[in-house]
Amino acid sequence: MALVSTKDMLLDAQKKGYAVGAFNANNLEMAQGIVMAAEKEDAPVIVQVSQGGAEYAGVEEMAAIVRALAEKTPIPVALHLDHGMDFVYNLRCLRAGYTSLMYDGSQLDFAENVKITKEVVQAAHAVGVPVEAELGRVPKDPHSVTAKELKKYLTRPEEALEFVELTGVDFLAIAVGSMHKMKVQEAKLDIERIKAIRQAVSVPLVLHGASGVPDKAIKEAIAAGICKINVHTQLAKRFTETARRLLQANPDVVDIRKYLSQSRQALMEEVRLKIRLFGADGKAKGVSHFPVAKIEPVDYMSQELVE
Ligand code: CO
Ligand code: CO
Repeated sequence: MALVSTKDMLLDAQKKGYAVGAFNANNLEMAQGIVMAAEKEDAPVIVQVSQGGAEYAGVEEMAAIVRALAEKTPIPVALHLDHGMDFVYNLRCLRAGYTSLMYDGSQLDFAENVKITKEVVQAAHAVGVPVEAELGRVPKDPHSVTAKELKKYLTRPEEALEFVELTGVDFLAIAVGSMHKMKVQEAKLDIERIKAIRQAVSVPLVLHGASGVPDKAIKEAIAAGICKINVHTQLAKRFTETARRLLQANPDVVDIRKYLSQSRQALMEEVRLKIRLFGADGKAKGVSHFPVAKIEPVDYMSQELVE
């Protein structure tokens, strides 16, 4: 089917108490592994491309790959821009057909984050595309912060409410103890904080840096109200380690397909485990197939004529 709206997907997840996996792809093989996994698990899936990933592989190139994969599979696939760092880049992805955007103004102060997020939301909503934004700060990597700084940048529930009201954002990425680029699962999540934010705002909540979170905490986070979970580092780790092992054991290999096919397979297995952990297996059918958010019908006859 055609690419579907990320919003419909996440609202279904929110309603039923599971989380949709948002898996990062930086090339053809990663995108294929992700969609193959979702198909095997009969799950809705978000393939996401970070601004960094799009700068590497191409905004339009990745859109074309994911669109082609979506069209060949019966399960719902959404295409999301992960960590778009400015207004212009978000617009470029909007034009390229991404079915949701992210503006990441988490490094800015509250007012500036609100201002730019709102501009992205207005542009995207004009064409029915939902937007994720980040409030608080999920650290770039575990070495970039002290425990004190990590705590200082956790999302505050009352600020989350104000932020959502001021910006009209569709999904909110929150800082609750996870960190990006963690290779071991030892992040401690503040589950009570997730519950408090969920009480304060109604939009779907997003967990970044899930590679570093133990499975048990992932389940608690979903029960507390998280319904989109971003995974990149664990996938990259499986993909690369598989290729490394094969190449070390077979130093004469030059055919790219020999190792990338193995990496793609390993990544697929990893994504399947995540989908089951998130409770998204078997949920493909519940998601509606609107390519963008539903647009209200117009009564043409009652419209006044304007110049
Ligand atoms: Co992230
Ligand atoms: Co269907």
